[in-house]
Amino acid sequence: MHFLYTIDRNKFRAPAQQPLQLKDFSIGILIGAGAFATVKRAVHKESQFTVALKQYDKRHLSKDPNAQESLHKEILILSQVDHPNVMGLFEVIDTRMNVNLVMEMCNGKSLYHYIKKKESMRLPEDECRIIFRQIVSGIAYLHENNIVHRDLKLDNILVDPQDGHRVKIIDFGFSIKSAADQKLSLFCGTPHYMDPDISKKKDYNGHAADVWAMGVILFILVTGKLPFFGDFEQDLFRKIQGAKYVFPTSQQLKDQQNAMGSQRNIRSEEVVVSPECKNVIRKIFQAESSMRVTAKDLLEDPWVKGISAYSALSTTVQGGQGISDVSIASNL
Ligand SMILES: Nc1ncnc2c1ncn2[C@@H]1O[C@H](COP(=O)(O)OP(=O)(O)O)[C@@H](O)[C@H]1O
Ligand SMILES: [Mg+2]
Repeated sequence: MHFLYTIDRNKFRAPAQQPLQLKDFSIGILIGAGAFATVKRAVHKESQFTVALKQYDKRHLSKDPNAQESLHKEILILSQVDHPNVMGLFEVIDTRMNVNLVMEMCNGKSLYHYIKKKESMRLPEDECRIIFRQIVSGIAYLHENNIVHRDLKLDNILVDPQDGHRVKIIDFGFSIKSAADQKLSLFCGTPHYMDPDISKKKDYNGHAADVWAMGVILFILVTGKLPFFGDFEQDLFRKIQGAKYVFPTSQQLKDQQNAMGSQRNIRSEEVVVSPECKNVIRKIFQAESSMRVTAKDLLEDPWVKGISAYSALSTTVQGGQGISDVSIASNL
């Protein structure tokens, strides 16, 4: 049993600095399951404070070095961070069957599930900005502390619409300490979110790779589509390496205008995204990682800050490519 830090959230901290035990909690429903762990809602009996309990099964851990590594990294990194947009870890409780991570509870859902419910799987630009700004803020904080996430994707961002769209970055199983000028070699992440260097299985800059993945997230939020996709991984990676993406056409606008008898011929490349937002995406999708904007600089971007005047056309983008994916890790 191991205390990570004394938290202001010590509402549920046991008296006399006693380490928490699993029996101090009422364990409730399953709220999520990942590759190596299950996540349950739990309530600290004495304080009635609700937490999320991420449970790693020791039988699974003992057989799977990747799971052990993932858990080790998650604990190591989360015990060093404290930011409103990064999921907080209160405590680790080691029991006979499980390693239990007692975490802050987010009552929302993953961005993937959030946009899945929306028509055309996209959000209005104002809402995208509120969410994106918080992701950038959390990542800028991590990068400032020389931590890279390495598996940013819709599934690993939680958003609580009932709490002002508060965003929490989760899942630090691939995260690692890495300085801004350092290169990494572990081939990991989720294919659609990989940057050109990772996709080439070259050494890559972890900070720049996180920024690229944030670009993929932003693109999906504003368009409902993936910026880079392919039927086969080779095809996908070729597109990523070319850093060529196309904003989807405004099909609904076109149909609407046609129905209204408009003479205006809407070109197929006409887009639904504001120029200011497109500029953010352009600064991110630079194939050469040294040319890519940093998370810190993104915080100063007018669109991200919300000081630019823009108007997003509210249209439906039809069709699209599936956007859920699995993470992979293997050594080069
Ligand atoms: N602190 C939390 N609050 C609420 N739900 C969570 C929390 N942490 C994880 N979840 C849910 O559990 C799922 C799996 O968690 P995650 O950390 O991504 O596990 P894995 O490392 O196995 O992918 C998430 O997609 C999310 O739905
Ligand atoms: Mg996950």
